[in-house]
Amino acid sequence: MCGIVGYVGNRNAIELVFDGLKRLEYRGYDSAGIACLDQSHQLALIREKGKLASLQPMLADLPPSSGIAIGHTRWATHGKPTRENAHPHASKRLALVHNGIIENHATLREELRAQGYQFRSETDTEVIAHLIDSCLNDVDDPKLALLAAVKRLEGAYAIAFLSDLRSDTIYLAKHGSPLVLGLGEGETYFGSDITTFADVCKRAIFLNDGEFAAIRKEGAEIWDLDGKTLHPKAKVIEWTAGAADKQGYRHYMLKEIHEQTSVMARSIETFLTDEDQLNLEALSVNGLAIDKLRNINIVACGTAYLAGLLGKYFIEPLTGLPVNVELASEFRYRDPLMLDNGQTLMVAISQSGETADTLACLKHAKQAGCQIFSVCNVPYSSIDRESDATLHMGAGPEIGVASTKAFTSQVLCLYLWSVAVGQKLGRIDQKRVADIVQELKNLPVLIELALNAEDKVKDIVNDFYESPNVLYVGRGPSFAIAMEGALKLKEISYIHAEGYAAGELKHGPIALVDHHMPVVAIAPKDDYYDKTVSNIEEICAREGRVIVIGDEKDQSLASICETIIPCPQSKDPAFQAILSAIPAQLLAYYIAVKRGTDVDQPRNLAKSVTVE
Ligand code: M6R
Repeated sequence: MCGIVGYVGNRNAIELVFDGLKRLEYRGYDSAGIACLDQSHQLALIREKGKLASLQPMLADLPPSSGIAIGHTRWATHGKPTRENAHPHASKRLALVHNGIIENHATLREELRAQGYQFRSETDTEVIAHLIDSCLNDVDDPKLALLAAVKRLEGAYAIAFLSDLRSDTIYLAKHGSPLVLGLGEGETYFGSDITTFADVCKRAIFLNDGEFAAIRKEGAEIWDLDGKTLHPKAKVIEWTAGAADKQGYRHYMLKEIHEQTSVMARSIETFLTDEDQLNLEALSVNGLAIDKLRNINIVACGTAYLAGLLGKYFIEPLTGLPVNVELASEFRYRDPLMLDNGQTLMVAISQSGETADTLACLKHAKQAGCQIFSVCNVPYSSIDRESDATLHMGAGPEIGVASTKAFTSQVLCLYLWSVAVGQKLGRIDQKRVADIVQELKNLPVLIELALNAEDKVKDIVNDFYESPNVLYVGRGPSFAIAMEGALKLKEISYIHAEGYAAGELKHGPIALVDHHMPVVAIAPKDDYYDKTVSNIEEICAREGRVIVIGDEKDQSLASICETIIPCPQSKDPAFQAILSAIPAQLLAYYIAVKRGTDVDQPRNLAKSVTVE
């Protein structure tokens, strides 16, 4: 994982790099560091374990006038999150930052030790620093040393280094991890993504695997592995990252939960035309050869995977195409059936657009001749750029590690997309589309009502926050919501939670149920309702403590469960799923707050998982 960023120009490089790191902290917050060159070309370096905030007091230790600097924010892979393992890693003539994993680091380390290099960290990255330095013994040119060194590396990397041999240049290499350059007037940036500079610099070059760069304030020189100079065209970035602030909320997660009303309202504007028709352009239906399709593979990770799982419930009936939903980390390493000539549509769902496993599946599918479609929140991200067509969710930046507004937005996007595809394939008529559009327009108001569950949730958390385990159950689309509720709870409260299909309980998990076990049952008034109520009865018969997310006025539920968290009802199952997700998000949030965890940056996690 990790984020890397750098700047060379006439402004305060350290300040700019520190700001860039703030934007990249979503990639990891185990430790952080910055290296720069001072006016007498000396390397200076600071690093500290913990979040970026712990690095801030050390900024004053760096030379103030530096116009060239690189920075790193870490999610630990090799070696604990300590100061010694924090990047940048220095060798004799350089300081280096790295995002990725070097698989042959152990062999290289031994070789370099034999040459007299001493290792101060347990990281794979320090190996790269010494390897380049050792190549400098032969070539005395950082560019040539970099080219020679990467030929020895196995694994994934985005590398940047500064050397006292060339005090005006940052050297970069990319293979498997993202790296983008920003070309300004008399200044040049690089970063793991464009958020690091998009607000101040609008021309970007996305490096491809096997490409290298030397950036100076005058611009960038790019070349391939043979040292041949390349001249890629810069892309104009029509997007701003914007400032991320909590707008008075205690946590980003709570702000993002509340933002779901405005995200839905904005989506209605984007995805409907003035005539209340589905906007096929915005839904990216026009960019695909829909008539060719024979099946759909959806790949994603975590919450995005659960959005896909939910999507299967409506995509199959609406489009008439068989849908396989799979965890990207599994799909990429098996031998899945994919039809060539664009007959299989590979769908990636990703908030960040940088999830390594999901991206790898797309590359795999592209080679197999599939059409590639993604539902993605971050424009210009790797997944966006790898796709034939992207449905841009437009949910706005999601900062809290626990995905909330991105989940409901993914569900909405998938749903409207499949309605549009179904319409285009002649499987659903105009009347049905008009009914869906009508119900869609009620969604922001219903979401606002769903958010009213907040008070009830606050009231009940005292009864549950100390439980070591919680089960979540649901049927149909609510099964996906049960799994999403459980994922939310475990990642931010550290309580063990499992989401099950309610009908599956008696095949094993019901053995866990006794008077200590809270069971959250997602029970909207849908086609599965009666069956779900029977399952709730079974749990109650075993003294399970049932918390229903459902209709507050439902007397039959009220008579059997311990408590109902009110949830408004929609007659559309996809919209109902979106509504049911909201009380589950609030429940996880308030339990985590009560337990005093770090809600926005829970332990061991990062917002974006850019290593496999
Ligand atoms: O950026 P992506 O949507 O590809 O991320 C996928 C998962 O890593 C992400 O949804 C993760 O599971 C969330 N932390 C869950 O809240």
